[in-house]
Amino acid sequence: MKHLRSIAEIGPGAVARLLDLTDHMVEINLRPNPKVPALRGRTVCNLFFEDSTRTRLSFETAARRLSADVMTFAVKESSVNKGESLRDTVETIAAMGVDAIVIRHRSSGVPWQVSAWTNASIVNGGDGWHAHPTQALLDAYTVRQALGRTGGFDGLQVAVVGDIRHSRVARSVTEVFQVLGADVTLVAPATLLPPATDVPCTDDLDALVGKVDVLYLLRMQRERMSEALVPDLREYSARFGLTPARAARLQEHALVMHPGPMNRGVEIQVDPAELPGAVITQQVTNGVAVRMAVLFDLLGSGSHDDMESTA
Ligand code: ASP
Ligand code: CP
Repeated sequence: MKHLRSIAEIGPGAVARLLDLTDHMVEINLRPNPKVPALRGRTVCNLFFEDSTRTRLSFETAARRLSADVMTFAVKESSVNKGESLRDTVETIAAMGVDAIVIRHRSSGVPWQVSAWTNASIVNGGDGWHAHPTQALLDAYTVRQALGRTGGFDGLQVAVVGDIRHSRVARSVTEVFQVLGADVTLVAPATLLPPATDVPCTDDLDALVGKVDVLYLLRMQRERMSEALVPDLREYSARFGLTPARAARLQEHALVMHPGPMNRGVEIQVDPAELPGAVITQQVTNGVAVRMAVLFDLLGSGSHDDMESTA
């Protein structure tokens, strides 16, 4: 694998390989000194043109745990503000010698564009409305771990609820869950669904909530809306939010997931700390291990010996 830009591009074989590799990284993260020499001498640059808490910090942590050097680019303090183009920024960073660039950008397709300007491996940390593949991998890993589904997700019922239309997470998690064999239904008002999709859709969350194995909640991506697509936020929350009444109807084993950041009181009206099936914190924890697996797969020697000794 040279790049990780979307789930569709890497296909089922790489998804399975990365999830298996994540098991090793979870084990490393449990050690008293969670650091291995696997990527010594390699450099990873985080190039985030959009805000991030989880993705940026977990890629930094992942790279450090594998002993890579990390460069973090703060757009707000960079020469982008003096008019530097995206291409010049990327070529400047590449000239310093980087092996991988993790990029987040408001425009869909930027990771593909950037790959043409550098020999570094490109990891998509979220491009516009389009894709967020490492989020999808960490979600798949979390389901596999929480439900013990190492053999795939055949028959697993997943509902992805909320602002599907503007969500790169919705697209990537749907792809990864389908690749693994799950049945995905998108739940949203018509205005928040994509104009065309092959995935089954409904606006009736109540009909599904008691049947699903995974309830995946999404934040309203207001930064990507040019008009008011939901006339009344309170009514939206009442119809599409996880209310106490809906939480009470979830199956006992059902998982509640959210990529974060959450808008409490909108898509989630219960405290996830009090929901036995909520795995939102585990998603964040697994984000480090999944990103270690991705960086190791892209930049490592391929030898598992590099993960045995302590750096
Ligand atoms: N953090 C995720 C993203 O950047 C989801 C969200 O922001 O709602 O796509
Ligand atoms: N889930 C996610 O991508 O979070 P951040 O936007 O905080 O990175």
